Amino acid sequence: MATRILSGVQPSGNLHLGNYFGAIRQHIALQEVPDSERFYFIADYHALTTVQDADEMRRNTRNVAVDYLALGLDPRRSTFFRQSDVPEVTELTWLLGVATGMGFLERAHSYKDKIAKGIKPSVGLFTYPVLMAADILIYKSNVVPVGQDQVQHIEMTQDMAGYFNQTFKKAVFVRPEPRLSATPKVPGTDGEKMSKSYGNTIDLQMDEKELKKAIMSIKTDSTPVEQPKNPDACNVFALYSLFATDEERDALSARYRAGGMGYGVAKQMLLEKVVAYFAPYRARRAELLAHPEQVDEVLRQGAAKARAVARQTLDEAKRACGLL
Ligand code: ADP
Ligand code: TRP
Repeated sequence: MATRILSGVQPSGNLHLGNYFGAIRQHIALQEVPDSERFYFIADYHALTTVQDADEMRRNTRNVAVDYLALGLDPRRSTFFRQSDVPEVTELTWLLGVATGMGFLERAHSYKDKIAKGIKPSVGLFTYPVLMAADILIYKSNVVPVGQDQVQHIEMTQDMAGYFNQTFKKAVFVRPEPRLSATPKVPGTDGEKMSKSYGNTIDLQMDEKELKKAIMSIKTDSTPVEQPKNPDACNVFALYSLFATDEERDALSARYRAGGMGYGVAKQMLLEKVVAYFAPYRARRAELLAHPEQVDEVLRQGAAKARAVARQTLDEAKRACGLL
């Protein structure tokens, strides 16, 4: 059977370099893998744990859909849809929940981190990993390409698949594996993991002026211009490396080590890379924004395909529980 690849991104704000280099770039690249099929979705049910304004949710959802398509998602090669258009996942969430222990969910890092950041500890936030397991398992996904921060959720999904299969004595679910990109933890402007919730992002949608402001604000140490600098300890260098060829990277590394170059020069070089790299995306995005009905149609067709698959697995799970 073809390898099934699945991933989701929350419509909780603008996409940034971390989302792109950690997750989305590989989602697009995986379209080239022979004998595979892809399911990519906008995780709006998940985003509802933090985005609780209807207009904002609609805006963000449209925004992420347009971004994905502008970045190269091809609806002929990937089934692209909105999570909430497949309500079967919430039904499966319940079935998985009855086979999953409370203590198990209490150990989730992301729940603890989110509460520490001041997000309201709702029941939805607590059961977030169960919904995520349902997303993955309902499509019998084999591979889940994500950034580092999501790996624990996928490991929890592996466990939840096992709990269900054991509890109901039927091997309904297959074991998914996480897949990391070459850059699973992209640093933000402050050196911490780049994340919407840390306010340290460089967003794909920023225009040149905004990019310049964000890039010039990247934290560097206070080594004087004339002194040699360590590229491996520098966030500007780490971000530049995402875009550079090996030769370009080595050349900048040599300039750091030689001394005589200020961080401002490296920041300018990074700015030029970001602007050039995302120019085609910006042009395609503008085209798509002029045709929102095409975007809606892609999501509608994607949902119909996804739903047919989800329905089958849900029925199998219900049968295993004696509900059908
Ligand atoms: P955020 O942390 O900004 O809220 P999401 O949780 O929506 O981002 O993440 C969407 C995808 O992007 C996930 O696969 C996640 O692992 C990946 N991702 C997010 N931030 C980074 C980062 N700084 N480096 C690498 N991958 C990331
Ligand atoms: N929790 C993921 C994030 O914040 C989004 C997500 C929801 C997801 N369901 C998924 C990712 C299933 C992979 C597979 O980034």
